[in-house]
Amino acid sequence: MGTAKVTAPLIFAITIATIGSFQFGYNTGVINAPEVIIKDFLNYTLQERLKNPPSEVLLTSLWSLSVAIFSVGGMIGSFSVGLFVNRFGRRNSMLIVNLLAIAGGCLMGFCKIAESVEMLILGRLVIGLFCGLCTGFVPMYIGEISPTALRGAFGTLNQLGIVIGILVAQIFGLNIILGTKELWPLLLGFTIIPAILQCASLPFCPESPRFLLINRKEEESAKEILQRLWGTQDVAQDIQEMKDESIRMAQEKKVTVVELFRAPSYRQPIIISIMLQLSQQLSGINAVFYYSTGIFKDAGVKEPIYATIGAGVVNTIFTVVSDNYGWMSFICIGAILAFVAFFEIGPGPIPWFIVAELFGQGPRPAAMAVAGCSNWTSNFLVGLLFPSAAFYLGAYVFIVFTGFLVIFWIFTFFKVPETRGRTFEEITRAFEGQVLAGNRDEKGPIVEMNSIQPTKDTNV
Ligand SMILES: *[C@@H]1O[C@H](CO)[C@@H](O)[C@H](O)[C@H]1NC(C)=O
Repeated sequence: MGTAKVTAPLIFAITIATIGSFQFGYNTGVINAPEVIIKDFLNYTLQERLKNPPSEVLLTSLWSLSVAIFSVGGMIGSFSVGLFVNRFGRRNSMLIVNLLAIAGGCLMGFCKIAESVEMLILGRLVIGLFCGLCTGFVPMYIGEISPTALRGAFGTLNQLGIVIGILVAQIFGLNIILGTKELWPLLLGFTIIPAILQCASLPFCPESPRFLLINRKEEESAKEILQRLWGTQDVAQDIQEMKDESIRMAQEKKVTVVELFRAPSYRQPIIISIMLQLSQQLSGINAVFYYSTGIFKDAGVKEPIYATIGAGVVNTIFTVVSDNYGWMSFICIGAILAFVAFFEIGPGPIPWFIVAELFGQGPRPAAMAVAGCSNWTSNFLVGLLFPSAAFYLGAYVFIVFTGFLVIFWIFTFFKVPETRGRTFEEITRAFEGQVLAGNRDEKGPIVEMNSIQPTKDTNV
């Protein structure tokens, strides 16, 4: 232990895997910039078909459906992760689901030529399914091939991939690149290219050693892969840990979703998991990622797409300063950029880490499914309802999000321990302490970060 190195094969495998995170970010951000153009396409296509101009309400509904159905796919995908990873392995699952990315990309890329609103909506559903699966596969694969000491650090690359994906989508959405009346189908179809790139590279990445050892009982190949990835011969201890885990998994009874809600000892962790997922989505972050161009436009920003490229702060300031826009639009951009920045260091990544650390092997898959479902459901509702809410409420729509934030702030204040100035592991420990204190008489199903304690009888 401690001798593991960061080798070229390890970096390569992690980089190729994070293409999946990039895809999730790209498809989250991609419909933001071309909003007006795609609405025109919907308007035109429906007019051809109905022989009448469609109503504003119908157009808004169809537009928000095209945006939000992505999360329905994501929900189904995040529920289906288990079906793939234990049957085909982690690497091959990532490889196979790229077919979905290609299918979804084709549906969206050809919807304009086919004048088909259905193809656009179906394409968004399929690509959402793909992204839901990716959000399960990528962190799992990265976690299982990384040396224990570097697991946390490499885990953040997943979030980085997502943010870069969003940024690239918004840059490509500029009207000087692909955000035009003619080229927007290419903007949506672009997702095929990373999919092909990943398909071509994954065969050169190893299968997860943990999968090989635990699911396939191929100890020798697991050992060889670890030695190659970590650049050390000394992997005996890690192999032994996986074997122990394998034995515990066989002993520990699987907990179903229903049991998760029935057992008192799981109640507090599951409520915390769900609340943190909801707070992530109901903070309105996806209203920003999906619709910020429209928001900026309504605030009087003349080049809203530049504002949308949140991370391209330089671009934004340049646009604002050089054209001397009103102070309100400046404040609007500043507020939203600050909001996105705070999101990324707060409710962005934390809900995903916390679920894995609150539950042991037995209840973990069910807890993950519940958390994933709450996340994508609220994501869907925000995506679907935001445009209509903004239509009726105007700028006051953000008061609704503020209301949610106040509720979650109160919840966090009373239920989640202080995190400022602490390392991630300290947070985890504080969290365990609190939950354990709540369940003092029971053996809590609590695990430490990345090392599962021998909790044999966690099924209550
Ligand atoms: C739809 O297109 C027609 C012209 O073809 C236009 O008059 C109408 O305003 C458009 N509707 C919306 C909501 O943009």
